[in-house]
Amino acid sequence: MADQTSDQGQAIEALFAEKRTFAPAPEFQKTAQWKDPAVYERAAKDFESFWAEQAHRLDWFEQWKTVLQWDDARKAARWFDGGLINASYNCLDRHVDAGHGSQVAFAWEGEPGDTRTFTYAELLAETCRLANALKELGVKRGDRVAIYMGMVPELPAALLACSRIGAIHSVVFGGFSADSLRDRIQDGSCKALITQDQGWRRGNKILLKNIADDALKASPSIEKVIVLKRVGDAVDWTPGRDHWYHDVVARQSDKCEPEKMAAEDPLYILYSSGTTARPKGIMHTTGGYLTGVSSTHQYIFDIDPSRDVFWCTADIGWVTGHSYIVYGPLANRTTSVLYEGTPDFPDKDRFWAIVEKYNVTVLYTAPTAIRTFMKWGPEYPKRHDMSSLRLLGSVGEPINPEAWIWYSEQIGGGRCPVVDTWWQTETGMIMLSPLPGITKTKPGSATFPYPGVFADVVDQSGKSVPLGGGGYIVITKPWPAMLRTLWGDHERYLATYWSKFGHLGYYFPADGCKRDEEGYYWLLGRVDDVMNVSGHRISTMEVESAFVDHPMVAESAVVSKKDDITGEAIAAFVTLKGGGIGSKEDADNLRKHVASKIGAFARPKYITFTPDLPKTRSGKIMRRLLRDVMENRPLGDTTTLADATVVKNIADLAQSSPTEE
Ligand code: WT7
Repeated sequence: MADQTSDQGQAIEALFAEKRTFAPAPEFQKTAQWKDPAVYERAAKDFESFWAEQAHRLDWFEQWKTVLQWDDARKAARWFDGGLINASYNCLDRHVDAGHGSQVAFAWEGEPGDTRTFTYAELLAETCRLANALKELGVKRGDRVAIYMGMVPELPAALLACSRIGAIHSVVFGGFSADSLRDRIQDGSCKALITQDQGWRRGNKILLKNIADDALKASPSIEKVIVLKRVGDAVDWTPGRDHWYHDVVARQSDKCEPEKMAAEDPLYILYSSGTTARPKGIMHTTGGYLTGVSSTHQYIFDIDPSRDVFWCTADIGWVTGHSYIVYGPLANRTTSVLYEGTPDFPDKDRFWAIVEKYNVTVLYTAPTAIRTFMKWGPEYPKRHDMSSLRLLGSVGEPINPEAWIWYSEQIGGGRCPVVDTWWQTETGMIMLSPLPGITKTKPGSATFPYPGVFADVVDQSGKSVPLGGGGYIVITKPWPAMLRTLWGDHERYLATYWSKFGHLGYYFPADGCKRDEEGYYWLLGRVDDVMNVSGHRISTMEVESAFVDHPMVAESAVVSKKDDITGEAIAAFVTLKGGGIGSKEDADNLRKHVASKIGAFARPKYITFTPDLPKTRSGKIMRRLLRDVMENRPLGDTTTLADATVVKNIADLAQSSPTEE
């Protein structure tokens, strides 16, 4: 476990500088879904009953027999066992059947400015056609389907089509490289892939099909590929394997019987970075997951489906999109905006133009985006009438109080509650957040666990730390949307999340946390070797192995450095074969190489060439010291180093020859 106490000391100082608190406004409270704090006590008294009540929000083909069965030895939860359910049915059919077929599910805005609207009836029909196409191509219940697309409306339809026929989707973010896509396809032995010709990003074309073709050179499990035409440029074609979406989907029936799935049948796998180079296939199941995302979406974002227009700006390739673009909002019959592109195309006011155009009422975005908007200045939001907004959400990394206040004032006009939501790919649903009609917020704090979620802050030994103190956040009881395992590797699941405090029954998220005297939780960032760059989770080991894959590189050590915009930036220390100091051009080539191995979002910002890395006598790289070097802090304890002069040299090198992008 990395020792990040010095990093956290700084984080805490910055957090507690802002003293203002924000109680729910009476006008907001008047119509709020939840305004009575008794919901916390009710859920605490009997959390299984609370979650059973939430599960009744959904339509079940067959009611469950037991709410929760917990196998403590295997850390295996079974929620709503005996229940039969289908996720796509709950997201689509039941709303259409109830007479809401003409309500907009997604108002889609393409990056070039083209638009399409999908009503619930249309999304149901498209989902059924795609589901029938998958069946025709041989995809069966339990098969894995990889999805590698941009933010087009067929993407949510693809997730829903899989869930309709009981296939397990594995979405790979469209910014990942061919190698990353291949690794994920191989790990899940996916049978089919849904992709598109090219995607739009900041006016450039992302060659999705090309990259996929590269990945498929070493993905023997893939039998069929469905290719959506989005941009229109020619693509290479493998006859028999590749099928155009418009050929194979359009001619299908728009009716497809939803499979009756057991509550604990897998819904999807989503890969996330861990502390090794190999990504972890986080597996979510159906009934509990849908219960968790539907409940949290409705009450944290205070959704009234007949009033709200919800916009979560995440990409569906990450868990935020799975839970709060697709499954949560659709289960709640929400009208959502879906946007294909970046916030600065064609100009830096694009987000605010979209808010105005679609009358967005609830906006859910990331601190890194907010800090970027701060840097661009208030003139961009000021160009637009954003009076439709009534609530703002934040997710992905700790939000600094300054950004929180800016968001509240410049975007929310001082009238919108801000909900800072803490959770992870593994938790599936938001775990800590204010309830906007109940909670007095403090800028920088995710406040309290959601009703029915139980957390604590503990020290190294697992002992609860009294209010006012800091340590590790732990989750002390199972929750319905929790991951069930890592795909094909339950031992790694046990080792990663349950070896630290599992003997106490605690789930370990690997985040540092402080609780103040009033019991508010202040999340302080990761305590393992995982970086958070612009809300993207990247493992130091993954980047290191991309470096050493380059023929010039002998060894590398990667740490994060605090960054005003991206939260953290990637800082690499690289030793070249032969021990020389590389040029600026070498650094740029290495950056390109890392981007091609992982994805552009993993490009290292800083590279320092060094003849040696600081290691313990047993050969372990001391990343803590490298972080001290990058933050210009006095070096911590160096007594365990094999050779203490190494780190002094590195500090000089980082000062004298920093290669910064
Ligand atoms: C890690 C999870 C949750 C969806 C997006 C990221 C950090 C996330 C917050 C927040 C402080 C946060 C944590 C967590 N994180 N939200 N509101 N305040 N930290 O999902 O890629 O699984 O990353 O993101 O460090 O462990 P993810």
